[in-house]
Amino acid sequence: MKKAEKIYEGKGKILYATDDPDLLIQYFKDDTTCFNAAKRGVIEKKGIMNNKISAKIFEYLETMGVSTHYVQLVNEREMLIRKAEMLPLEIVVRNRAAGSLCRNLGVPEGLALECSILEYCLKNDRLNDPLVNNDHIRALKIASEKDMEAIKELALLINHLLTKFFLRLNVELIDFKLEFGQCKGKLLLADEISPDTCRLWEVGTGARLDKDRFRQDLGHIEEAYQEVLSRVSR
Ligand SMILES: Nc1ncnc2c1ncn2[C@@H]1O[C@H](COP(=O)(O)OP(=O)(O)OP(=O)(O)O)[C@@H](O)[C@H]1O
Ligand SMILES: [Mg+2]
Repeated sequence: MKKAEKIYEGKGKILYATDDPDLLIQYFKDDTTCFNAAKRGVIEKKGIMNNKISAKIFEYLETMGVSTHYVQLVNEREMLIRKAEMLPLEIVVRNRAAGSLCRNLGVPEGLALECSILEYCLKNDRLNDPLVNNDHIRALKIASEKDMEAIKELALLINHLLTKFFLRLNVELIDFKLEFGQCKGKLLLADEISPDTCRLWEVGTGARLDKDRFRQDLGHIEEAYQEVLSRVSR
């Protein structure tokens, strides 16, 4: 597989073309942003850890029947992925209150939810990725009805699978963000699943093992990512 030209550089990753038009290389940077890039920094070796963590999680989901864009690891910072036509949506699944849910609705962090919450955000940095509902998505033709039904079912299935996966590692999956893309008539789980995109709390201690350590200046950021990597590698 030959790496070709850079086709996109985002805040946390870079996409490269390859000599196969169906495949891309996804490079994970150490650069870190939060609060819609109002806060920026670098987490040493984060790209290496997130590449490996994402690979482990995609491999697990594939064994459980979820189609993902993941093909294989290329090296410590790069994975080979299937090129997809991305839907301009971020899908957030929440199992406990944290982050923007607490800020927006005035509920305490950690509040247990009666049922999981699915949220959709329009991927638009200029507009700060605003929340949209199914009516916005339908009315503005952001995604098809069929895709939204499939996404809801997939997001809930992935939540079920990852909640179990992390509980076995003594970690509670508080919430996470997904992105999907179309590839050859099929919806694929794309982008990454890592401590950048999940809230992970150690069972018992409540220790934060995710990007909240960076958002809230809690320290020991690299160690938290390393801890997640060690656990998913068990
Ligand atoms: N399989 C795929 N095919 C095509 N594009 C993908 C695939 N997986 C992820 N992407 C896109 O690649 C980009 C990854 O870069 P990164 O996550 O750094 O972007 P970002 O700065 O967060 O911006 P964005 O708001 O677009 O996510 C994202 O735009 C993501 O939607
Ligand atoms: Mg992104």
